[in-house]
Amino acid sequence: MRKWMVAGNWKMHTTIPEAVALAGQVSAGVKGLSAGEVVLAPPFTALAAVSDVIKGTPVSLASQNMFYEEKGAYTGEISPLMLKDAGCTYVIIGHSERRKYFHDLDENINLKIKKCLAAGLKPILCVGETLEEREQGITEFVVGLQVKKALYGINAIDDVVIAYEPVWAIGTGKNALPIEAEEVHRFVRHLVGDMYGEVCARTRILYGGSVTQDNIGDLIGMEDIDGALVGGASLKSEGFLGIINKVLEKR
Ligand code: PGA
Repeated sequence: MRKWMVAGNWKMHTTIPEAVALAGQVSAGVKGLSAGEVVLAPPFTALAAVSDVIKGTPVSLASQNMFYEEKGAYTGEISPLMLKDAGCTYVIIGHSERRKYFHDLDENINLKIKKCLAAGLKPILCVGETLEEREQGITEFVVGLQVKKALYGINAIDDVVIAYEPVWAIGTGKNALPIEAEEVHRFVRHLVGDMYGEVCARTRILYGGSVTQDNIGDLIGMEDIDGALVGGASLKSEGFLGIINKVLEKR
């Protein structure tokens, strides 16, 4: 059985005191996680402080991005070694907002995943189609290409988590129907199976896009949906813990 994961992507929200308070509430509310994992992805400025708060709890830390070099003259960038130093276990890579606003191209995403793994960190690779692409019926083509390009040259997939996040569902309040999401998750699992063989049964594939405590129950009930990458609803501890509790009920 795959371990479920609920990850909170705080995006560009929270000051350090706000992040510390939210992480404290979440970690205090999380219990009995033998079958799952809870991950928090605060902004870079709050990583170290959140790392201290969650120490000794079952909650893990993620960053929302990284650069693919270890160090050097790259003003404004953060390296995988710095993220490890700050206490991260995971790194979100290729989020659609980074692809859209910061020109994070498939080639860069591939380099980031390679360097992330080389540093002993685990990538959460985000993929997903736009509304236009879905309407054109090319969702599988688009998502398939994103997965193949991101994983090009990567020999082992064990430490990679994939998040399917349809762009049209992110921050819009329009989540994919569980069956729509499941179809893409199953497609991705088969694709990973073609690339890596049997291990695809162990690859965790999260759903992301307007996940709340009201819709997670049906999503997590799907065979190939192993958890959620949550944006807006992760910014309040009650809502985020509500999602985790729904997952715990169903798994
Ligand atoms: P959302 O964001 O839950 O606010 O739609 C999800 C994400 O961008 O990871």
